[in-house]
Amino acid sequence: MKDKTKELENANKPILQRRKHTLAVCPGSFDPVTYGHLDVIHRAASVFDKVIVAVLKNASKNPLFSIEERKDLLIAVTKDISNVEVDSFDDLLINYMNEKNAHVIIKGLRAVSDFEYELQMASLNRKLNEEIETFFMMSSTQYSYLSSSIVKQIAQYNGPVSDLVPREVEHALQVKFANR
Ligand code: PNS
Repeated sequence: MKDKTKELENANKPILQRRKHTLAVCPGSFDPVTYGHLDVIHRAASVFDKVIVAVLKNASKNPLFSIEERKDLLIAVTKDISNVEVDSFDDLLINYMNEKNAHVIIKGLRAVSDFEYELQMASLNRKLNEEIETFFMMSSTQYSYLSSSIVKQIAQYNGPVSDLVPREVEHALQVKFANR
């Protein structure tokens, strides 16, 4: 069989010559942030020098929380992680990455069901800019069933969410649904 070592090395030379990846972007809707998100953010912050949590202003998804509310909740729950910054974007992720001069995207993977969509996004992002790499972190098992949508469903009917989201988020959900 042909030895592909040199081929791979040459193909990736410009990438290998790049600087160390110290800045990572953790993008998402965060409507609202859950303990599952927070787990990935904490772990990313322990690996990279700086992590930007970037909230997508996705009008198409009809979010429960406004962009400012989602950002404020993220700021509140990450306030003790010194190398985490919260921001928002309204663009292709790849354009936002360029703007920030960032080369690493961090995504959490919960189950096999996440894989197909995430593979599609990672592959497309890499096609749009081959200098950008997506790193996946497997969700901690206790959060592998958790999603913002599930949390919203439970909170809507006054179900218990204290094991699923931080206290600030639980309170924000109560206020939101009390006023609906
Ligand atoms: O929390 P979500 O809703 O699963 O996050 C999805 C997100 C924000 C990461 C994804 O929708 C995204 O990157 N959107 C920005 C627009 C974009 O770049 N789309 C093309 C991806 S190939």
